[in-house]
Amino acid sequence: MLVVTPNTCIDVTTWLATLVPGTVSRSSRTVSTAGGKGVNVCRTLRTLGRTHRLVGLAPREDARLEQLLAAEGCAFVPVHHDGQGRLAMIFLEDAGRVTVVNGRGPEPEQWDTSALLPTVRAELAGAPAVACSGSLPPGLAPDTYGRVVEAAHAAGVEAYVDAAPAVLEATLPFGPDLVSPNVGEAEALLHGRTDENVEESGEDLLDRCLEASRELHARGARRAVVTAGSHGAALTTAEGTWWLGAARVPVANPIGAGDSFLAGTSDALLAGAPDVVAVRTGMAVAAAAVQHETGGMLDPALVAPALAALPDPVAR
Ligand SMILES: Nc1ncnc2c1ncn2[C@@H]1O[C@H](COP(=O)(O)OP(=O)(O)OP(=O)(O)O)[C@@H](O)[C@H]1O
Ligand SMILES: [Mg+2]
Repeated sequence: MLVVTPNTCIDVTTWLATLVPGTVSRSSRTVSTAGGKGVNVCRTLRTLGRTHRLVGLAPREDARLEQLLAAEGCAFVPVHHDGQGRLAMIFLEDAGRVTVVNGRGPEPEQWDTSALLPTVRAELAGAPAVACSGSLPPGLAPDTYGRVVEAAHAAGVEAYVDAAPAVLEATLPFGPDLVSPNVGEAEALLHGRTDENVEESGEDLLDRCLEASRELHARGARRAVVTAGSHGAALTTAEGTWWLGAARVPVANPIGAGDSFLAGTSDALLAGAPDVVAVRTGMAVAAAAVQHETGGMLDPALVAPALAALPDPVAR
């Protein structure tokens, strides 16, 4: 399947005793890996055995991102720009605190912004579906993923979208076949909420997810999933609305659960699973992924036990 993540980057992960802003620190270890949400989606798809290609931006003058992706077996189709490669800096302190600084993507004058969609259209030929994931670089129109949905439908394939609120909002009128924001993102889109907790809580959480998924479906998403971390997810389709509780698993790293969820659900839909089954499969894949230390990675042997541990779906 085709994965579209324009804002690819290199994640530079640095381990250090303590990060003190305003001082000079020494790291004990630094590792560079390919990053961006679609890279996690691709990692999960690879583990599931689903062939895939990734379309994203890459600097013309610096081959490192392409080398890193090639080294991990990712078939990457670069759209080149003349800026510096985008970096995300991740600081891991001994006490466990994590600080992330996401770099800005290339400026619109540093690349031909009209080149992305033709590249996607060319790659859609022969792809069974497309998944769009992650933020857009500065200057790309918010309806860029909507245009990908339009191109996918013209090519006769489904399009799945996981994007930040403003971009997701602009995508809905194009009728994406699946959207999967977390509840913070969904409520930011629907009610202008701006705070976003990593793990949402509150007695009304389940009802908020159900309401948001109904609303996203009403605004154009064919399958609207609203996720709530370890609690589970709500799904609305033309057939109804369900609450799907998550599996209880030991968590090593919850970051990237949404990316593994998107990959797992897409893979199951492509295998012909009915909607509720596909979403539960995505949840089981995500539950396996949160048990792994690296975002997007998972032990495939943990998926079946996670699926068996999911509570029964509840129609609402
Ligand atoms: N701790 C967990 N235990 C079990 N399942 C989980 C856990 N965290 C996430 N999941 C599963 O993954 C799905 C997506 O997770 P989540 O809502 O955290 O996505 P997200 O906020 O988009 O994550 P990210 O942005 O870090 O990729 C959840 O609906 C749930 O099914
Ligand atoms: Mg997410």
